[in-house]
Amino acid sequence: MDKIVIRGGTRLRGRVDVEGSKNAALPILLASLLSAEECIFRNVPNVVDVRTTLRLLEGLGAEVERLGDSAVRIRAERLARLEAQYELVKTMRASFLVLGPLLARHGHARVSTPGGCAIGGRPINLHLEGLERMGARVELVEGYAQAEAEELHGARIYLDFPSVGATEHLMMVATLAKGQTTIEHAAREPEIVDLAGALISMGAQIRGAGEDVITIDGVERLHGTDYTVIPDRIEAGTFLVAAAITGGDIDVVGAIPTHLDPVILKLREMGVDVREHDHGVRVIGNGRLHAVDIKTMPYPGFPTDLQAQMMAALCTADGQSVISETIFENRFMHVYELNRMGADIKVEGNRAFVSGVAQLGGAPVMATDLRASVSLILAGLAAPGTTEVSRVYHLDRGYVRIEEKLSALGADIARVRE
Ligand code: EPU
Repeated sequence: MDKIVIRGGTRLRGRVDVEGSKNAALPILLASLLSAEECIFRNVPNVVDVRTTLRLLEGLGAEVERLGDSAVRIRAERLARLEAQYELVKTMRASFLVLGPLLARHGHARVSTPGGCAIGGRPINLHLEGLERMGARVELVEGYAQAEAEELHGARIYLDFPSVGATEHLMMVATLAKGQTTIEHAAREPEIVDLAGALISMGAQIRGAGEDVITIDGVERLHGTDYTVIPDRIEAGTFLVAAAITGGDIDVVGAIPTHLDPVILKLREMGVDVREHDHGVRVIGNGRLHAVDIKTMPYPGFPTDLQAQMMAALCTADGQSVISETIFENRFMHVYELNRMGADIKVEGNRAFVSGVAQLGGAPVMATDLRASVSLILAGLAAPGTTEVSRVYHLDRGYVRIEEKLSALGADIARVRE
């Protein structure tokens, strides 16, 4: 298993380009199952989760062809099977989103239920209830969700929580259901808007993506498309924090400032100079960071996917910060690793009390999930001494060549293959 070895204490400087959004790309790739025609998607990040999704599509019988490093052509005209196995779904929960598109186009499907993961229980009740409201019969049998429907119809669906995955899943299915569907209390993340954009480019009729209520008028069929995925706001935010934590100066090219509003607000409160410009966001760190309080919320609130990174930065801020995690019940695994690097963090329920220390120190640490791993890398960049982050396969699920990108910004960082 690979390790990332960092000798910290260097101020990072320079420009870095943002990749396409992983969390937008995953459902968009799966949307190709809704059409018999060829779909080309561009700006798709070459990360492990994308490669897993492409393998899943191939396993179903779709033709998949990589066009260079960041584009892919998919044709799901005839499928060989309408089933996704546990072995695959357990490695990537987002693969559960194949259930709806397979059902909508072929009338039945069988997909393993994903179970929990390191950051929480992550149930799928909202996905299944929504499908049932559209006329699907869903049974849970031996760890699999089996769904069938002669014809799916539009429905009024109220989500108890604005779940990103459930909103995406139901929006995809509704594009081919007969009549009108409204999804109320829908997730409003930029990734939802991007999926809607991709579906609309395939002929779907969707209004209100990015708002509280999404209205979808079902159509007979969807056609092919050539669609470009949005930049990854979480990767961009990670580099913004890298500048702040190292007192550096990084121009994050391709970052969309409006997608990062809550992050930019907090960085400014922390005393960091953040400059939004036409091509991205530049962050200039100056002096010790100030403590701030953060509460993760559905978009447009502060993203849970940047909570761990911000916590790393706040470890050396002046004063005490309180970080409340309201989205996932177990997303503080990085706390105990950060404490091994000299941080002073106490957890009570869903709140972490971070008392700023003057400096972190390098240490061997272990990654537990994607965003936790990158937070340890950020901490390592700021800590004099050597930090070794093991179990970096989590990192590769969502970041493209991050060690090369950080190295180009001046970091002393290397991947050690074991
Ligand atoms: N929830 C339910 N029932 C459901 C669905 C969700 O109770 O049927 C709960 C979950 O248990 C959780 C909360 O709702 O407590 C939020 O879950 P959501 O469905 O919004 O998240 P997701 O679709 O599973 C996506 C991202 C995550 C990101 C969250 C929140 C993808 C592939 N994943 O997950 O990304 O943290 O939205 O923004 O888009 C990551 O990239 O590191 C990552 C974990």
